[in-house]
Amino acid sequence: MSTAFTNIGSLVTNDLELGSGLLGEVSDAAFVVEGGLVTWVGSASELSATDDIVDLHGRAVIPGFVDSHAHLAFAGDRSEEFAARMAGTNYSAGGIRTTVAATRAASDDQLRSAIAKRVGEFHRSGITTFESKSGYGLTVADEARTVRLNSEVTSESTYLGAHVVPAEFASNPDDYVDLVCNEMLFASSPNAKWVDVFCDRGAFDADQAETVLRAGMTAGLMPRIHANQLDFGTGVELAVKLDCASADHCTHLTSRDIELLAGSSTVATLLPGAEFSTRAQYPDARRLWGAGVTVAIATDCNPGSSFTTSMAFCVAVAVRDMHFTPEQAVWSATKGGALALRRNDIGGLSVGMRADFAVLDAPNAIHLAYRPGVELIESTWISGTEVHRRNR
Ligand code: NIG
Ligand code: FE
Repeated sequence: MSTAFTNIGSLVTNDLELGSGLLGEVSDAAFVVEGGLVTWVGSASELSATDDIVDLHGRAVIPGFVDSHAHLAFAGDRSEEFAARMAGTNYSAGGIRTTVAATRAASDDQLRSAIAKRVGEFHRSGITTFESKSGYGLTVADEARTVRLNSEVTSESTYLGAHVVPAEFASNPDDYVDLVCNEMLFASSPNAKWVDVFCDRGAFDADQAETVLRAGMTAGLMPRIHANQLDFGTGVELAVKLDCASADHCTHLTSRDIELLAGSSTVATLLPGAEFSTRAQYPDARRLWGAGVTVAIATDCNPGSSFTTSMAFCVAVAVRDMHFTPEQAVWSATKGGALALRRNDIGGLSVGMRADFAVLDAPNAIHLAYRPGVELIESTWISGTEVHRRNR
């Protein structure tokens, strides 16, 4: 069964050989999907016969957003903490403990339905692949179950036992690192693909972070890291040393950090929602691009520092406040996200890629930044199957 999607005003392929500019844009385009994969891309006038045809009436199509950094498995609410921050309180890693208490108290079914609701919001936002971290359980049983619940909704499940030192280990943090590297890891790793650590002020230092990531790698997990969000530090250096797929946040970078990233295959994942919601200074994306660093944008959906599921919002903020061009921001939220997950089957629309895409109620992808806060995602498709349609 082949389906043609045609009459596309502007198609973002992220393939420089298929179209123009950074996004490989094709105008008056069409593409064909068969068996969940893209089997043809070109000009609508050259489309051959297919079993089915979907007329998109001049709308733009982009590859589905790839959200390479999210924390979906949690319970509770921290809106008061947000309000206090907007009134002048600083953000600190310690707020995580509030969510830990609520998450431990929630049943599997309560967590499952909270995750499902957030996944529904992701689809409405045009996200077709997402990563999701544990990190709000922080006991052996609670980390293992949040990793497992995440793995029920995504293959990109991340073990983040080293999110913060829980209150009960406050006086002996090294014992907690030991637990994270042993019993907790072995209980969690069967349902995880990635190991992550929050390496920052108020969380884990670089030595502890290295111990955690190396233990995870020995258990067969691939490393990624929260680094340089709250302060300058050696997190990014560690990311490059261990060939982490991604160093996330990168809010405080030295020129040397940027040089190291540029010479590596570690993606710098920027999280505009986090600076927005903690009223922090934004990293300068233009400087990273200029230096040749591969950059991704992700939502960082979490209850403390960035409770958004809207990638379009993140794109708009990235353009307005991180100085991305609209094209760079869209690339970072699609192809960049795929690279941050070391995936080459998603993040673009060329022959052989998974048919994951979003149809925009707009003539081109610039509108994602140009029309902030407007629900422009008309429909979202995963492997050629519609998972969301606006106003249905
Ligand atoms: O990515 N930085 C660590 N983790 C989250 C925040 C977690 C929280 O405050 O609950 C983040 O921003
Ligand atoms: Fe995070």
